[in-house]
Formats: sequence, structure tokens, C-alpha cells
Amino acid sequence: MGLFKKKDASIESLGADRLPVHIGIIMDGNGRWAKKRGLPRQAGHVTGAKVFRTITKHCEKRGIQYLTVYAFSTENWKRPQAEVDGIMNLLRDYLKESLSDFKKENIRTRFIGELSALAPDIQELMAEAQRETAHKTGMTLNIAVNYGGRAEILHAVKRLVEDVQSGKIRVEEIDEEQLSDRLYTAGQPDPDLILRPSGESRLSNFMVWQSAYAEYVMNDVLWPDFTTDDLDEALLEFARRNRRFGGV
Ligand code: FPP
Repeated sequence: MGLFKKKDASIESLGADRLPVHIGIIMDGNGRWAKKRGLPRQAGHVTGAKVFRTITKHCEKRGIQYLTVYAFSTENWKRPQAEVDGIMNLLRDYLKESLSDFKKENIRTRFIGELSALAPDIQELMAEAQRETAHKTGMTLNIAVNYGGRAEILHAVKRLVEDVQSGKIRVEEIDEEQLSDRLYTAGQPDPDLILRPSGESRLSNFMVWQSAYAEYVMNDVLWPDFTTDDLDEALLEFARRNRRFGGV
């Protein structure tokens, strides 16, 4: 069993006010899942990508308004080239295969991260996915690729400096909101719940600014084994928490 407490309420009985508005998920454990089975690491990523699709649909079904998934970090380039290529190919396949789904579903898909470092065809597919879904009114799905929380903050700081230099804003006017407005997630609420499966208890440079008041839920399920029940358990655990935001 994971670290979640036993189910003590039904997920269906939770009102929208007890659900997180924004969930962030660190999809971790693909490599260990594959190793346990004597399979190449890529097999873990392939299954992980399928689980990502299932969990995305499930979040939408549960009425989650924003979902951000960590698909590839600024640090993941350090992996062997074959593994990097394998993950990029999965992303490419997902983007190509999902174009018809993007049209049918009511999900607004966005990509966050330093996208200019990605292969040009992937950038084009991402732009197309964003274009096709920009007007959707259902859940917003942020897929973080070549994403790092610190890089995101630096990017926002540089934009603030540019805006000061061009006279658009005065230094005294810079506040948390002004910085938030220059993050990749500008205009979106901060995540209420950060989920990290696979037994690790680290943030790993994920939504560093935005997760200041997030609830963390960890479990020891490896991402390719993560099920819709695990997501529901996390939602129930979130509902049991008493969030005080520094108050009493
Ligand atoms: C972490 O597990 C996982 C990744 C770095 C890649 C995540 C990518 C996917 C789930 C596929 C992405 C595809 C789409 C379509 C979004 P790990 O490899 O660090 O696992 P380990 O800690 O067990 O080695």
C-alpha cells in the first residue's frame, strides 16, 4: 500500500469546493518500473505515456480545471542520448496521434518550458495543438517540456527587467502578481495539489514559484502502475487536509 490513508469517503461525494482546482504531477518511476521487469527504460516511458493519457482524461472527468504534468526537465538532457530521443519520439507520437482528439475533446492543451531548444517539427506540432485547443473551455492541460522552475523564474525576471527598461512598469510596482504574470503559467491559478508517485519526496525544480502553498501527496506507486484509483485516493487525501495559507 502507498502512503495514502485508507479511503474514508467516496470520491463521488466530494463537492467541487473540496477538489483541487489545479493539480501538478511529477510522473516518476518509469525507469525503475522497466528495470523491475528486465525491460529497457524506454518500455517504462512508453507505458508512462499511456498512463499520462488515462490520468489526463480522468482528471477532466473529475472536474479538475488545471493539470500540469512534468514530462521532461531542463536536467533530463543529461540522460543518454538514446533515452532523450526515445522520450522525444513519444512526445512526437502523442502530438501526432492526439491531433484528432484535441479537436474532439474540450481540453485546452498548452506546453510550458524552454520550447525553442526542441526539434523544429515538435515545436510546430506543439504550436498546432495549442492553436487547435486555444478556444476550449474545459480543463487546461499544461505539459512541461524542457521545463525547470528556476529557469522559469529567471525568464520572468528578465522580462520584468525589460519592462522596467522600456518604462512599461516601475520598480516600485513589482510585486508577486507581476512576477506570476510573467511565468509560463501566467493567468492560471497556482497548483493546490502536487502529486509525486514512485516513493521520492522531492520537488525536483517543478513549479518552484507556483507551489509555495501546494499540498504534497506522495505515494510509492511507480508512474507506469499509477491508476485512476491512485488519483482518486490523492483527491481524497487532499480533501482531508486543512489548508491554512499561513493563517490559523
Ligand atoms: C521520470 O521517470 C520520467 C521521465 C523523465 C519522463 C516522463 C515521460 C513520460 C511519462 C512520457 C512523456 C510523454 C508524453 C506524451 C507527455 P524516470 O525515468 O526518472 O524513472 P526512474 O526515476 O525510475 O529512473
